[in-house]
Amino acid sequence: MWRSSNGLIGFINFMTFLLSIPILGGGIWLSTKANQTDCLRFLQWPLIIIGASIMVVSLMGFAGSCYRISWLLWLYLFAMFFIIAALLGFIIFAFVVTSKGEGRPLVNQANYRDYYLSDYSGWLKDRVSDPGYWAKISSCLRDAKACSKMGVYVGGAPETPNMFYHRYLSPIQSGCCKPPTECGYTYVNETDWSPGTASTTTDSDCSRWSNDQTQLCYSCDSCKAGVLASIKKSWRKVSVINIIVLIILVIFYVIGCAAFRNTKRIDNNEPFGESRMTKSQPARIHF
Ligand SMILES: *[C@@H]1O[C@H](CO)[C@@H](O)[C@H](O)[C@H]1NC(C)=O
Repeated sequence: MWRSSNGLIGFINFMTFLLSIPILGGGIWLSTKANQTDCLRFLQWPLIIIGASIMVVSLMGFAGSCYRISWLLWLYLFAMFFIIAALLGFIIFAFVVTSKGEGRPLVNQANYRDYYLSDYSGWLKDRVSDPGYWAKISSCLRDAKACSKMGVYVGGAPETPNMFYHRYLSPIQSGCCKPPTECGYTYVNETDWSPGTASTTTDSDCSRWSNDQTQLCYSCDSCKAGVLASIKKSWRKVSVINIIVLIILVIFYVIGCAAFRNTKRIDNNEPFGESRMTKSQPARIHF
């Protein structure tokens, strides 16, 4: 009985070890996703830390159950509790900071949306639009050539305005690489727009727009909004993985606690149980 409960803990630890892989993968995916969240490196760290801790703690539990080291199992149960709490906290945090704000569909039937900073609020907005921090993000976007890659050529010429309006643009492409649609500027190519003569809008982004290919709309509020929309999209994807992992982790944790209590109870019926536990016998796992 002792052995089979211990084997169960070993098995559960092996499964949680496997579970840590998608979490780590999610963090690494966030950090490598071409150009976009690359410029927001601070965002992937919570995930990488949580994923790596699950990995280390499961190995700890696995070793503890294989070699019957009870203090290692205690430490495992204790640490896993904190990891579950941290993961839950991170999921709630990700939903709260990305809860508000969406791109606005356009009246001119364009397939892309325009992004407005005023649609966003909260901690993440303050962080992204903080001047010092925005200087870093925008220069990173510029260096990543986020806009120069969006050119489409048809027979050597830029695509027509009509083709452009029917394209899908990522939030960053829409917010940072073209002037807001309401400025009424005339399309020349994707990143070259001639100012209209009769602009009636008061949007300050219109005057921030520059055809200088190193400036474009990188200093616009629409670019900040595009970055926020992009973060929201990728965090929502990562949150789906996190929620699934959290549910499985809680189930395993409950089973693990029950199995551990079982080993304690049986162990306590034996004289010198504790000392026998720490004397490692050849590792054997029974499922
Ligand atoms: C648009 O035209 C400008 C000026 O000719 C050019 O520098 C730029 O690379 C073009 N943009 C794209 C996306 O091809």
